[in-house]
Amino acid sequence: AVTFNVGTSGNATAATQYGIMFEDINNSGDGGVYAELIQNRAFQGNEIYPSNLWWWHPLGGADLALKNLSNPLSDALPTSMQVRGGSEDTIGFWNEGFWGFPIKGDWEYNGSFYIHGQFDGAINIALVSNTTGDTYANASVDVTSQGNAWTQFQYTFQPTSDAPDSNNTLQFTMPASGVKGPLNFNLLSLFPPTYNDRPNGLRIDLMEAMAGLKPSLFRLPGGNNVEGNEPPFWWDWKKTLGPLENRPGYPGTWGYQNTDGLGLVEYMLWAQDLGMEPILDIWAGLWLNGSHVDKKDLQPYVDDALDELEFLMGDVSTPWGAKRAELGYPAPWPIRFIEIGNEDSLSNGGHTYRAYRFDMFYKAIKAKYPDMTIIASFYDVGPETPPYDAAGDFHEYAVPLQMSSQFNYFDNYTNEHPLFLGEYAVIEYDIPGFSSPQWDKGALRAMYPFWYGSVSEAIYLLSAERNADKIIGAAYAPGFMNYNRWEWIPDLIEYDANPENTVLSTSWHMISLLSSTRITETLPTTGGKYNPAYWVAGRSDVTGSHIVKAVVYNSTAPVPFYVTFDEVKAGASATLTYLTAPKNASNTIGNDVVQTSTSTVTANKKGCFHFKLPEYSVGVLEVDAA
Ligand code: AHR
Repeated sequence: AVTFNVGTSGNATAATQYGIMFEDINNSGDGGVYAELIQNRAFQGNEIYPSNLWWWHPLGGADLALKNLSNPLSDALPTSMQVRGGSEDTIGFWNEGFWGFPIKGDWEYNGSFYIHGQFDGAINIALVSNTTGDTYANASVDVTSQGNAWTQFQYTFQPTSDAPDSNNTLQFTMPASGVKGPLNFNLLSLFPPTYNDRPNGLRIDLMEAMAGLKPSLFRLPGGNNVEGNEPPFWWDWKKTLGPLENRPGYPGTWGYQNTDGLGLVEYMLWAQDLGMEPILDIWAGLWLNGSHVDKKDLQPYVDDALDELEFLMGDVSTPWGAKRAELGYPAPWPIRFIEIGNEDSLSNGGHTYRAYRFDMFYKAIKAKYPDMTIIASFYDVGPETPPYDAAGDFHEYAVPLQMSSQFNYFDNYTNEHPLFLGEYAVIEYDIPGFSSPQWDKGALRAMYPFWYGSVSEAIYLLSAERNADKIIGAAYAPGFMNYNRWEWIPDLIEYDANPENTVLSTSWHMISLLSSTRITETLPTTGGKYNPAYWVAGRSDVTGSHIVKAVVYNSTAPVPFYVTFDEVKAGASATLTYLTAPKNASNTIGNDVVQTSTSTVTANKKGCFHFKLPEYSVGVLEVDAA
């Protein structure tokens, strides 16, 4: 049994404790949170991923070809799809979507496309099921298109009912007789309803899944994806602004082209819609292939970071503040946290990062924004701390044995340099003899978060909570995985085109519970011995309740708890919520293994709350406010 008392005065915690880390990996942006349904909508390409016609197919014997016309749609989107010939009366093309299209009877879809060339007639756009062969929605657009001009057309439709699955295509058809010469198409777009009804917006079910985590922080846009694989590419925020016609896209670092439809403004709206504070990651001049910008050439990139901050926060009288207003957002998006680079090994001798790189960014940003928390990327929780008053970003991918042993991990960490736990996850199952991940030795890597891994992560998070005066917050990584193309497992939330298949992992449930029961002041506890139970106590200024969060890990039997509080009287009532699941189990489509148990516990005449937590469980006791 575990018996302890909760005292009266402790440390204030960071209000930001839990958040989301986002980068476009596993098709988490395009084909994920970004709600665009057409894949390869603008034939974007570059030296790394040349333009192609992937995901597009001809109909009626038409020929499809990529063309760089002398009069392109825009400088950013120079390549279009040309439709020629055809052996049938009706010709056209179809798109595979991001591995299918969701068809829902109560959704209204908004579509658009650009056309160039001689055409006179109607273009029909239809959502068609491969499973039933039925057309669920269609729109007919009368098009008179003139020779050398690009014209945009828009359409809306609402399906007659739900399709049985997402094995559907989007078809564009037209009478061959209306085609008077080569016809060119570009920026073909189709959006379902989006979160908060935002144009060019985000997928509702995934936003709701994130909202369920009650996140306060939002780290963007990487991870690796901020960095670029090789020169000259990096996540260049200026190329992600404004009309989609002006966005060339970016060869993301995870093996596929990013459209950049999800750009800096969309990130800010995302943060705003979920009430999260951005942690803006900026590029430090280092590429993943080892190339770097020399010191003598770095200043323009430092200036670029200042431009980015001015764009986000500057008054509309500043050049970049005016640009933000011109895009329709006169109110600034305040930024309090900025991270320089990603995993640039500050504490490991890290290349040129420590020598001059971090310094140049730090000094320039601090000179203009003295209150900004500047985060140095990736350093170990060891004797070496970030320079000046900088914070640090610590990443940990671990096995359960390792994660579960870190309950004291941050106890001796200095409180002079706040720490952000910008990426963490249990990624492999334990195997005897190994206390850390074996990475590429393959077989042990978990496809999905699994319950005892999630419980071990909870111990790590309690270690952050008990030091929550030093720790800015924690974010699981990666956050998302499309089942159809992924580069990294496990991930917090998994999905495909059909929102009914979205899976909230075991770690999602664990984080949701810990994040939605925030402690604003940690309180000391006396008595009790850690292992196999771990706990943290505190109170919430928001709800007025006293809180104990407890984890039972690697125990052969349920653990009884006897908890008293200096400030809670006999007869007080509390709600106990705990999560448990079979030790090795993972959540998969249609199968949620996590059991939530809720009960009322009353303090006995000695003011003691008695409850039990099963082996491998995460629980929270919240005393009703007096
Ligand atoms: O989260 C996946 C990757 O892990 C991130 O891109 C990188 O920062 C880390 O190495």
